[in-house]
Amino acid sequence: MEITYLGHGCVEVKTAGHSLLVDPFITPNPLAAHIDINQLQPDYILLTHGHEDHVADAEAIAKKSNAKIISNFEIVTWYGNKGIEGHPMNHGGQWHFDFGTVKMVNAVHSSVLPDGTYGGNPAGFVVSTDEGTVYLAGDTALHQDMKLIPEFFKLDLAVLPIGDNFTMGIAEAVKAAGFVGVSKVLGIHYDTFPYIEINKEEARQAFESSGIELLLPDIGSSITV
Ligand code: NI
Ligand code: MN
Repeated sequence: MEITYLGHGCVEVKTAGHSLLVDPFITPNPLAAHIDINQLQPDYILLTHGHEDHVADAEAIAKKSNAKIISNFEIVTWYGNKGIEGHPMNHGGQWHFDFGTVKMVNAVHSSVLPDGTYGGNPAGFVVSTDEGTVYLAGDTALHQDMKLIPEFFKLDLAVLPIGDNFTMGIAEAVKAAGFVGVSKVLGIHYDTFPYIEINKEEARQAFESSGIELLLPDIGSSITV
């Protein structure tokens, strides 16, 4: 399983011969100016919630690549009205796709689509394939339901927001890593805006003191789990 950080909340997961793109916000992100969305050929686009900083490039990429959108019912319906195919889910549900399974799990946040349409409830995903299992938390506060995840999955990696203000901050993300039972975290949702700037070294140390490795790859760089 190869995971590429594409800035803000966006990662690409390459696994089992498929590409899953999560929360694309690339063209509006100056930090990701070197990423060309035309080079992305995902099979699926997973959207955790409807906020602009998670869906900005979803329509353009879906139309070019023919990727299917996996998200909540409301968001999939909204994209369906634009002629984009999707697979609707809701919290607690799991589905077997050709690459593996996706389970939609709780997130504590909000969700509205860019034009003001109700965006359903925000979510996270647990993606499980023959190559590994990853928890994509989406935008969320720390919450107790995270503790249920390791009762059903043995995670190899958690992708957690760490930028604070709109989501968990570093201290809560360290706790979240413990709740879901991972020793490796990919940090996202930091530094894009002044509200979510972090000190990376302090963040790494906070995780390390709890025995957890915090990975903060450069935008465009990949890790393998
Ligand atoms: Ni959000
Ligand atoms: Mn966000």
